[in-house]
Amino acid sequence: MRISDRLRNAPVSGIRKMFDLASSDSVNLSLGEPDVRPPEEALKGMNDAAMKGMNGYGPTPGIMPLREAVASRYAEHGIAAENVMITPSGTTALMMITQSIVNPGDETLIPSPGFVVYGPHTALAGGKAIEYRLTDDFQPDTDDIQRKITKNTKAVFLNFPSNPTGGVLGEEAFKAVRDIAADKDITIISDEVYEPFVYGGKHRTFMAEDNTVVVNGFSKMMAVTGWRLGFITAGKEAIVDITKMAYHMCACPNTPAQHGILGAMPSVNAYLDDVRSIYRKRRDLITSRINSIDGMRMEAPKGAFYAFPEFSYDVTSEEFAMRLAKNGLICVPGSAFGAYGEGHLRFSYAADEDKISRGMDILENIAKEMRS
Ligand SMILES: Cc1ncc(COP(=O)(O)O)c(C=O)c1O
Repeated sequence: MRISDRLRNAPVSGIRKMFDLASSDSVNLSLGEPDVRPPEEALKGMNDAAMKGMNGYGPTPGIMPLREAVASRYAEHGIAAENVMITPSGTTALMMITQSIVNPGDETLIPSPGFVVYGPHTALAGGKAIEYRLTDDFQPDTDDIQRKITKNTKAVFLNFPSNPTGGVLGEEAFKAVRDIAADKDITIISDEVYEPFVYGGKHRTFMAEDNTVVVNGFSKMMAVTGWRLGFITAGKEAIVDITKMAYHMCACPNTPAQHGILGAMPSVNAYLDDVRSIYRKRRDLITSRINSIDGMRMEAPKGAFYAFPEFSYDVTSEEFAMRLAKNGLICVPGSAFGAYGEGHLRFSYAADEDKISRGMDILENIAKEMRS
């Protein structure tokens, strides 16, 4: 088969590369995969739906009761069911959005360090992604954004709470990005899939803003990464347009899984309170272990479930991550998240405390070897 140039030139995710290196006995802190149990109502709801025969195609933008349930969760931001579409995962939602708005030659601005799909998705739509810097406290560097805007800039991606940094968006940066985008008529694509996981400060959503598309999902929210369900909120016309793209990409989201999520929506806040307290303990553990290592440093992450420490050894993040992998600890080099991620490693703490402790023992030993 002769594959397209678009696909040939698309990079393989650096996260997947590290994951593929993991052997069965290594401590794998590389994947952002919640290890907690999904809500019981979700499991029961999906099974019941499948058993009752709800196994056929559904509406392209998702079943109406779930669109309504999502809308009512975010009603304070002016969201109605027509502003919501259910998608077959957050990843697919991002792909649908880029395919819907990027023309060949258009540019997007993507965070660096930032999640790995925004650049390739832009390129697969024929556009060009330009990295903008996050500041040392993991906020968007708005001067850098301003400098990198050209007449071709179509959209700016934001991701808060952030993968890989764990940063949460502050008020000042929120307003600055919103104003720049409005001034230059640039669409904001705000990836908020870690919205439920904020430990300090508050989550600022772009849901209520004009010319903005928000991506969220159930993978992380309800620990159902394999169910492949996400959602988009946007203006009503944008939802109609993206639905047209969704039809061509996937026809509709998974029907029984949508019924499962619907069953869990009424009690999801109580579920999330429990999950947040589990992650918060793990966050505190990994932060204190890393900060006790000479030559490594991090602030306690305010959100998501990633630690993104800086190191001051004379190696690249890829060399460091490879050396850890050979010694049984899998993490992701900061460089996998863009040019401004170098000098960092990313560890997921969606893993139990014993696993985190064993991983940190390996990190401590290798860090000691590197200093001697
Ligand atoms: C920032 C971010 N956005 C989107 C996704 C996609 O999630 P999913 O496709 O499972 O909904 C991920 C997954 O790791 C992520 O970290």
